[in-house]
Amino acid sequence: MSKETAQLIIDGTTYTLPIVESTTGEKALDVRSLLRQTGYITLDSGYMNTGSCESQITYLDGSKGILRYRGYDIEDLAANCVFIEVAYLLLTGELPTAKELDRFKYDMTRYALIHEDMIHFFDHFPPNSSPMSILSTMVGTLHDFYPEMDKEEDPYGGLTTTTARLLSKLRTIAAFSYKKNIGHPLVYPRADLSYCANFLNMMFDRPNMPYKVEPINVIALNKLLILHADHEQNCSTSTVRLVGSAGVGLYPSISAGINALWGPLHGGANVAVIRMLEGIYRDGEDYDKYISKAKNPDDPYRLTGFGHRVYKTYDPRAKLIKEVCQAVLETLNVTDPLLNIAQELEYRISRDDYFVSRNLYPNVDFYSGIIYRAMGIPTNMFTVMFALGRLPGWIAHWQEMNSDKESSRIGRPRQVYKGITNRPFVKIEDRG
Ligand code: SDX
Repeated sequence: MSKETAQLIIDGTTYTLPIVESTTGEKALDVRSLLRQTGYITLDSGYMNTGSCESQITYLDGSKGILRYRGYDIEDLAANCVFIEVAYLLLTGELPTAKELDRFKYDMTRYALIHEDMIHFFDHFPPNSSPMSILSTMVGTLHDFYPEMDKEEDPYGGLTTTTARLLSKLRTIAAFSYKKNIGHPLVYPRADLSYCANFLNMMFDRPNMPYKVEPINVIALNKLLILHADHEQNCSTSTVRLVGSAGVGLYPSISAGINALWGPLHGGANVAVIRMLEGIYRDGEDYDKYISKAKNPDDPYRLTGFGHRVYKTYDPRAKLIKEVCQAVLETLNVTDPLLNIAQELEYRISRDDYFVSRNLYPNVDFYSGIIYRAMGIPTNMFTVMFALGRLPGWIAHWQEMNSDKESSRIGRPRQVYKGITNRPFVKIEDRG
Protein backbone atom coordinates (compact mmCIF):
# COMPACT_ATOMS: atom_id res chain seq x y z
CA MET A 1 0.00 0.00 0.00
CA SER A 2 1.34 3.44 -0.94
CA LYS A 3 1.46 6.18 1.75
CA GLU A 4 -0.24 8.49 -0.77
CA THR A 5 -3.97 9.12 -0.65
CA ALA A 6 -6.55 10.74 -2.94
CA GLN A 7 -9.17 13.24 -1.84
CA LEU A 8 -12.72 12.96 -3.14
CA ILE A 9 -15.14 15.82 -2.50
CA ILE A 10 -18.87 14.97 -2.72
CA ASP A 11 -21.54 17.48 -1.67
CA GLY A 12 -18.95 19.48 0.24
CA THR A 13 -17.61 16.50 2.20
CA THR A 14 -14.02 15.39 1.63
CA TYR A 15 -13.32 11.67 1.60
CA THR A 16 -9.89 10.08 1.61
CA LEU A 17 -9.12 7.07 -0.58
CA PRO A 18 -5.92 5.07 -0.27
CA ILE A 19 -3.62 4.73 -3.30
CA VAL A 20 -2.19 1.30 -4.15
CA GLU A 21 1.15 1.14 -5.98
CA SER A 22 2.24 -1.82 -8.12
CA THR A 23 5.79 -3.21 -7.98
CA THR A 24 6.32 -1.65 -11.42
CA GLY A 25 5.24 1.84 -10.31
CA GLU A 26 1.68 2.05 -11.63
CA LYS A 27 -0.80 3.48 -9.16
CA ALA A 28 -4.49 2.78 -8.48
CA LEU A 29 -7.24 4.31 -6.39
CA ASP A 30 -8.30 1.75 -3.79
CA VAL A 31 -12.11 2.16 -3.84
CA ARG A 32 -12.88 -0.83 -1.60
CA SER A 33 -14.18 1.57 1.10
CA LEU A 34 -15.98 3.93 -1.32
CA LEU A 35 -19.53 2.60 -0.84
CA ARG A 36 -19.19 2.37 2.94
CA GLN A 37 -17.69 5.89 3.16
CA THR A 38 -19.81 7.72 0.56
CA GLY A 39 -22.80 5.56 -0.44
CA TYR A 40 -21.48 5.85 -4.01
CA ILE A 41 -20.32 3.04 -6.33
CA THR A 42 -18.29 3.46 -9.52
CA LEU A 43 -19.49 2.84 -13.09
CA ASP A 44 -16.99 1.47 -15.64
CA SER A 45 -18.54 -0.43 -18.58
CA GLY A 46 -16.14 -3.10 -19.84
CA TYR A 47 -13.92 -2.47 -16.80
CA MET A 48 -11.68 -0.23 -18.94
CA ASN A 49 -10.41 1.62 -15.85
CA THR A 50 -10.98 -0.98 -13.14
CA GLY A 51 -8.54 -3.42 -11.58
CA SER A 52 -10.28 -6.60 -10.39
CA CYS A 53 -7.45 -7.95 -8.24
CA GLU A 54 -3.81 -7.76 -7.29
CA SER A 55 -1.75 -10.34 -9.19
CA GLN A 56 1.86 -11.56 -9.34
CA ILE A 57 1.62 -13.61 -12.53
CA THR A 58 1.89 -11.40 -15.64
CA TYR A 59 2.84 -7.80 -16.25
CA LEU A 60 2.14 -5.89 -19.42
CA ASP A 61 2.74 -2.30 -20.39
CA GLY A 62 0.36 -1.39 -23.23
CA SER A 63 2.17 1.81 -24.19
CA LYS A 64 5.68 0.30 -24.33
CA GLY A 65 4.66 -3.13 -25.66
CA ILE A 66 6.14 -4.99 -22.69
CA LEU A 67 4.91 -8.47 -21.68
CA ARG A 68 6.51 -10.46 -18.82
CA TYR A 69 5.50 -13.76 -17.17
CA ARG A 70 6.64 -13.82 -13.51
CA GLY A 71 9.15 -11.06 -14.35
CA TYR A 72 10.72 -12.70 -17.42
CA ASP A 73 10.42 -10.90 -20.79
CA ILE A 74 8.32 -12.82 -23.28
CA GLU A 75 11.10 -12.45 -25.86
CA ASP A 76 13.55 -14.36 -23.61
CA LEU A 77 11.04 -17.09 -22.80
CA ALA A 78 10.01 -17.60 -26.44
CA ALA A 79 13.66 -17.75 -27.54
CA ASN A 80 14.93 -20.12 -24.83
CA CYS A 81 12.11 -22.28 -23.43
CA VAL A 82 9.67 -24.98 -24.41
CA PHE A 83 6.01 -24.46 -23.62
CA ILE A 84 5.90 -26.89 -20.68
CA GLU A 85 8.80 -24.99 -19.05
CA VAL A 86 6.83 -21.73 -19.28
CA ALA A 87 3.68 -23.45 -18.02
CA TYR A 88 5.72 -24.56 -14.97
CA LEU A 89 6.92 -20.95 -14.49
CA LEU A 90 3.38 -19.54 -14.61
CA LEU A 91 2.04 -22.17 -12.22
CA THR A 92 4.81 -22.20 -9.61
CA GLY A 93 6.35 -18.73 -10.05
CA GLU A 94 9.79 -20.16 -10.88
CA LEU A 95 11.47 -21.65 -13.95
CA PRO A 96 12.05 -25.40 -13.34
CA THR A 97 15.43 -26.96 -12.74
CA ALA A 98 16.36 -29.68 -15.23
CA LYS A 99 15.20 -32.30 -12.70
CA GLU A 100 11.90 -30.54 -12.06
CA LEU A 101 11.29 -30.18 -15.80
CA ASP A 102 11.98 -33.88 -16.36
CA ARG A 103 9.48 -34.75 -13.63
CA PHE A 104 6.88 -32.42 -15.16
CA LYS A 105 7.42 -33.87 -18.62
CA TYR A 106 6.96 -37.34 -17.12
CA ASP A 107 3.62 -36.18 -15.69
CA MET A 108 2.59 -34.90 -19.13
CA THR A 109 3.18 -38.41 -20.46
CA ARG A 110 1.60 -40.08 -17.45
CA TYR A 111 -1.67 -38.12 -17.66
CA ALA A 112 -2.00 -37.92 -21.46
CA LEU A 113 -4.81 -40.47 -21.85
CA ILE A 114 -8.46 -39.65 -21.32
CA HIS A 115 -10.95 -42.14 -19.85
CA GLU A 116 -12.05 -44.46 -22.65
CA ASP A 117 -15.72 -43.76 -21.76
CA MET A 118 -15.10 -40.09 -22.65
CA ILE A 119 -14.20 -41.09 -26.20
CA HIS A 120 -17.81 -42.20 -26.81
CA PHE A 121 -18.90 -38.59 -26.22
CA PHE A 122 -17.27 -37.58 -29.50
CA ASP A 123 -19.67 -39.90 -31.38
CA HIS A 124 -22.68 -37.96 -30.10
CA PHE A 125 -21.75 -34.40 -31.02
CA PRO A 126 -23.60 -33.27 -34.16
CA PRO A 127 -21.43 -33.39 -37.31
CA ASN A 128 -19.44 -30.17 -37.81
CA SER A 129 -19.78 -29.25 -34.14
CA SER A 130 -17.46 -26.41 -33.19
CA PRO A 131 -14.21 -27.74 -31.71
CA MET A 132 -14.56 -25.03 -29.03
CA SER A 133 -17.95 -26.32 -27.86
CA ILE A 134 -16.54 -29.86 -27.82
CA LEU A 135 -13.50 -28.66 -25.85
CA SER A 136 -15.51 -26.85 -23.17
CA THR A 137 -17.95 -29.77 -22.86
CA MET A 138 -15.21 -32.37 -22.52
CA VAL A 139 -13.30 -30.27 -19.97
CA GLY A 140 -16.48 -29.89 -17.93
CA THR A 141 -16.91 -33.68 -17.84
CA LEU A 142 -13.32 -34.16 -16.59
CA HIS A 143 -14.80 -33.04 -13.30
CA ASP A 144 -16.91 -36.21 -13.18
CA PHE A 145 -14.27 -38.61 -14.46
CA TYR A 146 -11.47 -37.22 -12.31
CA PRO A 147 -13.00 -35.78 -9.14
CA GLU A 148 -10.65 -33.02 -8.07
CA MET A 149 -8.93 -33.77 -4.84
CA ASP A 150 -9.63 -30.79 -2.60
CA LYS A 151 -6.51 -31.16 -0.54
CA GLU A 152 -4.13 -33.09 -2.75
CA GLU A 153 -0.41 -33.46 -2.42
CA ASP A 154 1.29 -30.56 -4.05
CA PRO A 155 4.58 -32.03 -5.28
CA TYR A 156 6.16 -28.84 -6.48
CA GLY A 157 4.20 -25.91 -5.14
CA GLY A 158 1.30 -25.07 -7.40
CA LEU A 159 1.66 -28.07 -9.68
CA THR A 160 -0.92 -30.50 -8.43
CA THR A 161 -2.01 -33.74 -10.06
CA THR A 162 -5.23 -32.00 -11.07
CA THR A 163 -3.20 -29.33 -12.86
CA ALA A 164 -0.89 -31.77 -14.63
CA ARG A 165 -3.87 -33.91 -15.67
CA LEU A 166 -5.68 -30.96 -17.24
CA LEU A 167 -2.60 -29.62 -19.03
CA SER A 168 -1.94 -33.00 -20.62
CA LYS A 169 -5.50 -34.07 -21.27
CA LEU A 170 -6.59 -30.83 -22.98
CA ARG A 171 -4.00 -31.56 -25.68
CA THR A 172 -5.40 -35.08 -26.15
CA ILE A 173 -9.02 -33.89 -26.21
CA ALA A 174 -8.13 -31.27 -28.84
CA ALA A 175 -6.39 -33.78 -31.12
CA PHE A 176 -9.09 -36.46 -30.64
CA SER A 177 -11.84 -33.94 -31.48
CA TYR A 178 -10.07 -33.17 -34.77
CA LYS A 179 -9.63 -36.86 -35.68
CA LYS A 180 -13.30 -37.57 -34.88
CA ASN A 181 -14.34 -34.53 -36.93
CA ILE A 182 -12.53 -35.83 -40.04
CA GLY A 183 -13.56 -39.43 -39.40
CA HIS A 184 -10.01 -40.75 -38.93
CA PRO A 185 -8.93 -43.29 -36.30
CA LEU A 186 -7.66 -41.77 -33.08
CA VAL A 187 -3.90 -41.58 -32.63
CA TYR A 188 -2.91 -42.10 -29.02
CA PRO A 189 -0.21 -40.09 -27.22
CA ARG A 190 3.32 -41.58 -27.24
CA ALA A 191 5.84 -41.68 -24.40
CA ASP A 192 8.76 -40.87 -26.68
CA LEU A 193 7.42 -37.54 -27.98
CA SER A 194 7.51 -34.08 -26.35
CA TYR A 195 4.35 -32.16 -25.49
CA CYS A 196 4.17 -30.35 -28.86
CA ALA A 197 5.48 -33.21 -31.01
CA ASN A 198 2.89 -35.50 -29.41
CA PHE A 199 0.10 -33.07 -30.23
CA LEU A 200 1.15 -32.80 -33.88
CA ASN A 201 1.50 -36.57 -34.14
CA MET A 202 -1.93 -37.16 -32.58
CA MET A 203 -3.35 -34.66 -35.07
CA PHE A 204 -1.73 -35.85 -38.29
CA ASP A 205 -0.42 -39.41 -37.99
CA ARG A 206 -2.43 -42.01 -39.96
CA PRO A 207 -2.21 -45.80 -40.18
CA ASN A 208 -1.82 -45.59 -43.97
CA MET A 209 0.41 -42.50 -44.07
CA PRO A 210 2.80 -42.19 -41.10
CA TYR A 211 3.34 -38.54 -40.15
CA LYS A 212 6.85 -37.08 -39.92
CA VAL A 213 7.03 -34.50 -37.14
CA GLU A 214 8.87 -31.54 -38.70
CA PRO A 215 11.30 -29.93 -36.19
CA ILE A 216 10.35 -26.42 -37.41
CA ASN A 217 6.71 -27.13 -36.56
CA VAL A 218 7.64 -28.26 -33.04
CA ILE A 219 9.77 -25.13 -32.56
CA ALA A 220 7.01 -22.91 -33.94
CA LEU A 221 4.27 -24.56 -31.88
CA ASN A 222 6.27 -24.17 -28.67
CA LYS A 223 6.74 -20.48 -29.41
CA LEU A 224 3.07 -19.98 -30.32
CA LEU A 225 1.83 -21.67 -27.14
CA ILE A 226 4.33 -19.69 -25.03
CA LEU A 227 3.16 -16.42 -26.60
CA HIS A 228 -0.47 -17.29 -25.79
CA ALA A 229 0.19 -18.64 -22.28
CA ASP A 230 -1.07 -15.68 -20.25
CA HIS A 231 -2.14 -12.08 -20.60
CA GLU A 232 -3.21 -10.83 -17.14
CA GLN A 233 -6.91 -9.97 -16.72
CA ASN A 234 -8.23 -10.52 -20.27
CA CYS A 235 -11.84 -11.53 -20.80
CA SER A 236 -11.40 -15.32 -20.53
CA THR A 237 -8.98 -15.18 -17.60
CA SER A 238 -11.32 -12.83 -15.74
CA THR A 239 -14.10 -15.32 -16.49
CA VAL A 240 -12.08 -18.16 -14.95
CA ARG A 241 -11.41 -16.06 -11.85
CA LEU A 242 -15.04 -14.91 -11.57
CA VAL A 243 -16.55 -18.38 -12.02
CA GLY A 244 -13.95 -19.87 -9.66
CA SER A 245 -14.71 -17.22 -7.02
CA ALA A 246 -18.11 -18.86 -6.50
CA GLY A 247 -16.25 -21.90 -5.14
CA VAL A 248 -16.34 -23.78 -8.47
CA GLY A 249 -13.61 -26.38 -9.14
CA LEU A 250 -10.78 -25.98 -11.65
CA TYR A 251 -12.29 -27.97 -14.52
CA PRO A 252 -15.69 -26.16 -14.66
CA SER A 253 -13.92 -22.81 -14.23
CA ILE A 254 -11.64 -23.58 -17.20
CA SER A 255 -14.64 -24.75 -19.22
CA ALA A 256 -16.16 -21.28 -18.68
CA GLY A 257 -12.89 -19.65 -19.77
CA ILE A 258 -12.90 -21.71 -22.99
CA ASN A 259 -16.34 -20.36 -23.82
CA ALA A 260 -15.27 -16.76 -23.20
CA LEU A 261 -12.19 -17.22 -25.41
CA TRP A 262 -14.41 -18.47 -28.27
CA GLY A 263 -15.73 -14.95 -28.93
CA PRO A 264 -14.59 -13.25 -32.19
CA LEU A 265 -13.56 -10.15 -30.23
CA HIS A 266 -11.24 -12.33 -28.13
CA GLY A 267 -9.57 -15.64 -28.99
CA GLY A 268 -12.01 -16.31 -31.84
CA ALA A 269 -10.34 -13.44 -33.70
CA ASN A 270 -7.65 -15.79 -35.09
CA VAL A 271 -10.37 -17.62 -37.05
CA ALA A 272 -12.00 -14.32 -38.05
CA VAL A 273 -8.66 -12.99 -39.36
CA ILE A 274 -8.31 -15.87 -41.82
CA ARG A 275 -11.91 -15.46 -42.96
CA MET A 276 -11.22 -11.72 -43.47
CA LEU A 277 -8.00 -12.35 -45.44
CA GLU A 278 -9.73 -15.02 -47.56
CA GLY A 279 -12.53 -12.52 -48.26
CA ILE A 280 -10.06 -9.87 -49.41
CA TYR A 281 -8.25 -12.49 -51.54
CA ARG A 282 -11.49 -13.66 -53.19
CA ASP A 283 -12.49 -10.05 -53.75
CA GLY A 284 -9.46 -9.38 -55.92
CA GLU A 285 -7.46 -7.87 -53.04
CA ASP A 286 -9.57 -4.74 -52.98
CA TYR A 287 -7.86 -3.40 -49.84
CA ASP A 288 -9.42 0.07 -50.06
CA LYS A 289 -12.93 -1.41 -49.99
CA TYR A 290 -12.32 -3.28 -46.75
CA ILE A 291 -10.34 -0.49 -45.09
CA SER A 292 -13.14 2.00 -45.91
CA LYS A 293 -15.76 -0.38 -44.49
CA ALA A 294 -13.73 -0.74 -41.27
CA LYS A 295 -13.44 3.05 -40.92
CA ASN A 296 -17.14 3.69 -41.57
CA PRO A 297 -18.83 4.30 -38.18
CA ASP A 298 -22.13 3.14 -39.68
CA ASP A 299 -20.66 -0.15 -40.83
CA PRO A 300 -20.20 -2.84 -38.13
CA TYR A 301 -17.32 -4.36 -40.17
CA ARG A 302 -13.99 -4.33 -38.33
CA LEU A 303 -10.53 -5.34 -39.52
CA THR A 304 -10.13 -8.22 -37.09
CA GLY A 305 -6.65 -8.92 -35.74
CA PHE A 306 -6.10 -5.20 -35.23
CA GLY A 307 -6.54 -3.18 -32.06
CA HIS A 308 -6.30 -4.11 -28.42
CA ARG A 309 -7.85 -2.97 -25.15
CA VAL A 310 -4.44 -2.54 -23.53
CA TYR A 311 -1.75 -2.40 -26.23
CA LYS A 312 -1.64 1.02 -27.85
CA THR A 313 1.51 0.03 -29.72
CA TYR A 314 2.55 -3.10 -31.62
CA ASP A 315 1.52 -6.20 -29.61
CA PRO A 316 4.93 -7.71 -28.71
CA ARG A 317 3.51 -11.17 -29.38
CA ALA A 318 2.43 -10.20 -32.91
CA LYS A 319 6.00 -9.10 -33.69
CA LEU A 320 7.41 -12.49 -32.60
CA ILE A 321 4.61 -14.47 -34.28
CA LYS A 322 5.26 -12.63 -37.55
CA GLU A 323 8.93 -13.74 -37.37
CA VAL A 324 7.90 -17.34 -36.63
CA CYS A 325 5.43 -17.18 -39.51
CA GLN A 326 8.13 -16.22 -42.01
CA ALA A 327 10.52 -18.88 -40.63
CA VAL A 328 7.92 -21.67 -40.88
CA LEU A 329 6.88 -20.79 -44.43
CA GLU A 330 10.51 -20.47 -45.59
CA THR A 331 11.63 -23.74 -43.94
CA LEU A 332 8.64 -25.70 -45.20
CA ASN A 333 8.95 -23.96 -48.56
CA VAL A 334 5.29 -23.00 -48.35
CA THR A 335 3.84 -19.90 -49.97
CA ASP A 336 0.54 -18.60 -48.68
CA PRO A 337 -1.13 -15.69 -50.53
CA LEU A 338 -2.82 -14.78 -47.24
CA LEU A 339 0.57 -13.85 -45.75
CA ASN A 340 1.15 -11.37 -48.57
CA ILE A 341 -2.34 -9.96 -48.05
CA ALA A 342 -1.79 -9.69 -44.29
CA GLN A 343 1.52 -7.87 -44.82
CA GLU A 344 0.00 -5.49 -47.41
CA LEU A 345 -2.96 -4.79 -45.10
CA GLU A 346 -0.61 -4.07 -42.19
CA TYR A 347 1.44 -1.76 -44.44
CA ARG A 348 -1.61 0.25 -45.51
CA ILE A 349 -3.08 0.41 -41.99
CA SER A 350 0.20 1.67 -40.56
CA ARG A 351 -0.06 4.68 -42.87
CA ASP A 352 -3.77 5.39 -42.42
CA ASP A 353 -4.58 8.16 -39.96
CA TYR A 354 -7.82 6.49 -38.79
CA PHE A 355 -5.87 3.53 -37.44
CA VAL A 356 -2.74 5.43 -36.40
CA SER A 357 -4.76 7.99 -34.43
CA ARG A 358 -6.54 5.17 -32.60
CA ASN A 359 -3.33 3.21 -31.93
CA LEU A 360 -4.63 0.21 -33.84
CA TYR A 361 -1.80 -2.26 -34.53
CA PRO A 362 -1.75 -5.98 -35.31
CA ASN A 363 -2.50 -8.05 -32.21
CA VAL A 364 -1.64 -11.63 -31.25
CA ASP A 365 -4.30 -13.01 -33.58
CA PHE A 366 -3.25 -11.32 -36.80
CA TYR A 367 -0.48 -13.66 -38.02
CA SER A 368 -0.98 -16.78 -35.88
CA GLY A 369 -3.54 -18.37 -38.19
CA ILE A 370 -1.16 -18.30 -41.13
CA ILE A 371 1.32 -20.43 -39.19
CA TYR A 372 -1.38 -22.90 -38.16
CA ARG A 373 -2.40 -23.18 -41.84
CA ALA A 374 1.18 -23.92 -42.84
CA MET A 375 1.25 -26.69 -40.20
CA GLY A 376 -1.92 -28.19 -41.67
CA ILE A 377 -4.14 -27.22 -38.73
CA PRO A 378 -7.68 -26.43 -40.00
CA THR A 379 -9.12 -22.95 -39.41
CA ASN A 380 -11.86 -24.15 -37.07
CA MET A 381 -9.14 -25.45 -34.70
CA PHE A 382 -7.29 -22.13 -34.39
CA THR A 383 -9.07 -20.95 -31.24
CA VAL A 384 -8.55 -24.41 -29.74
CA MET A 385 -4.82 -23.77 -30.26
CA PHE A 386 -5.22 -20.47 -28.41
CA ALA A 387 -6.91 -22.34 -25.53
CA LEU A 388 -4.07 -24.92 -25.41
CA GLY A 389 -1.62 -22.04 -24.99
CA ARG A 390 -3.71 -20.06 -22.51
CA LEU A 391 -4.45 -22.99 -20.22
CA PRO A 392 -1.47 -22.57 -17.85
CA GLY A 393 -2.32 -18.89 -17.46
CA TRP A 394 -5.94 -19.68 -16.65
CA ILE A 395 -4.89 -22.31 -14.09
CA ALA A 396 -2.32 -19.97 -12.49
CA HIS A 397 -4.97 -17.26 -12.10
CA TRP A 398 -7.53 -19.72 -10.71
CA GLN A 399 -4.92 -20.86 -8.16
CA GLU A 400 -3.99 -17.25 -7.31
CA MET A 401 -7.67 -16.29 -6.92
CA ASN A 402 -8.05 -19.18 -4.46
CA SER A 403 -4.84 -18.39 -2.63
CA ASP A 404 -6.12 -15.95 -0.01
CA LYS A 405 -9.25 -14.57 1.63
CA GLU A 406 -9.18 -11.21 -0.15
CA SER A 407 -8.68 -12.53 -3.71
CA SER A 408 -11.16 -15.39 -3.29
CA ARG A 409 -14.10 -13.12 -2.35
CA ILE A 410 -16.99 -13.98 -4.67
CA GLY A 411 -17.01 -11.60 -7.65
CA ARG A 412 -20.22 -9.59 -7.70
CA PRO A 413 -20.14 -6.25 -9.58
CA ARG A 414 -22.79 -3.60 -8.85
CA GLN A 415 -24.83 -1.58 -11.38
CA VAL A 416 -26.47 1.79 -12.00
CA TYR A 417 -30.19 0.99 -12.30
CA LYS A 418 -31.91 2.88 -15.13
CA GLY A 419 -35.20 1.01 -15.25
CA ILE A 420 -38.75 1.93 -14.15
CA THR A 421 -38.58 3.05 -10.54
CA ASN A 422 -41.77 1.68 -8.99
CA ARG A 423 -45.36 1.02 -10.06
CA PRO A 424 -48.52 -0.64 -8.59
CA PHE A 425 -49.23 -4.27 -9.59
CA VAL A 426 -51.95 -4.79 -12.25
CA LYS A 427 -54.00 -8.02 -12.22
CA ILE A 428 -54.12 -9.90 -15.52
CA GLU A 429 -57.83 -9.17 -15.93
CA ASP A 430 -57.09 -5.45 -15.71
CA ARG A 431 -54.26 -5.44 -18.26
CA GLY A 432 -56.47 -4.79 -21.24
C1 SDX B 1 -7.34 -10.85 -27.83
O1 SDX B 1 -7.49 -8.47 -23.52
C2 SDX B 1 -6.55 -9.27 -23.94
O2 SDX B 1 -5.45 -9.32 -23.43
C3 SDX B 1 -6.97 -10.14 -25.12
C4 SDX B 1 -5.87 -10.93 -25.78
C5 SDX B 1 -5.31 -12.00 -24.86
O3 SDX B 1 -4.16 -12.39 -25.06
O4 SDX B 1 -6.09 -12.52 -24.02
O5 SDX B 1 -4.82 -10.08 -26.19
C6 SDX B 1 -6.39 -11.67 -27.02
O6 SDX B 1 -8.51 -10.93 -27.60
C7 SDX B 1 -6.79 -9.90 -28.87
C8 SDX B 1 -7.91 -9.05 -29.56
C9 SDX B 1 -8.55 -9.92 -30.65
N1 SDX B 1 -9.73 -9.22 -31.22
C10 SDX B 1 -9.72 -8.65 -32.44
O7 SDX B 1 -8.73 -8.62 -33.18
C11 SDX B 1 -11.06 -8.07 -32.86
C12 SDX B 1 -10.83 -6.71 -33.58
N2 SDX B 1 -10.43 -5.73 -32.55
C13 SDX B 1 -11.49 -4.87 -32.02
O8 SDX B 1 -12.74 -5.46 -31.94
C14 SDX B 1 -11.02 -4.11 -30.77
O9 SDX B 1 -9.83 -3.54 -31.09
C15 SDX B 1 -10.89 -4.84 -29.45
C16 SDX B 1 -12.12 -5.60 -29.10
C17 SDX B 1 -9.73 -5.77 -29.49
C18 SDX B 1 -10.63 -3.79 -28.38
O10 SDX B 1 -11.79 -3.06 -28.26
P1 SDX B 1 -11.85 -1.77 -27.27
O11 SDX B 1 -10.67 -1.69 -26.38
O12 SDX B 1 -13.21 -1.79 -26.63
O13 SDX B 1 -11.68 -0.57 -28.25
P2 SDX B 1 -12.87 0.14 -29.00
O14 SDX B 1 -13.77 -0.89 -29.62
O15 SDX B 1 -13.45 1.15 -28.06
O16 SDX B 1 -12.07 0.86 -30.19
C19 SDX B 1 -11.57 2.19 -30.04
C20 SDX B 1 -11.76 2.82 -31.42
C21 SDX B 1 -13.21 2.79 -31.91
O17 SDX B 1 -13.38 3.86 -32.84
P3 SDX B 1 -14.06 5.27 -32.29
O18 SDX B 1 -15.32 4.87 -31.53
O19 SDX B 1 -13.01 5.89 -31.41
O20 SDX B 1 -14.34 6.05 -33.55
O21 SDX B 1 -10.99 2.07 -32.39
C22 SDX B 1 -11.89 1.50 -33.35
C23 SDX B 1 -13.29 1.53 -32.73
O22 SDX B 1 -14.29 1.59 -33.73
N3 SDX B 1 -11.44 0.13 -33.60
C24 SDX B 1 -11.38 -0.43 -34.80
C25 SDX B 1 -10.84 -1.72 -34.58
N4 SDX B 1 -10.61 -1.88 -33.26
C26 SDX B 1 -10.99 -0.74 -32.66
N5 SDX B 1 -11.72 0.01 -36.04
C27 SDX B 1 -11.51 -0.86 -37.06
N6 SDX B 1 -10.98 -2.12 -36.93
C28 SDX B 1 -10.65 -2.57 -35.70
N7 SDX B 1 -10.12 -3.81 -35.55
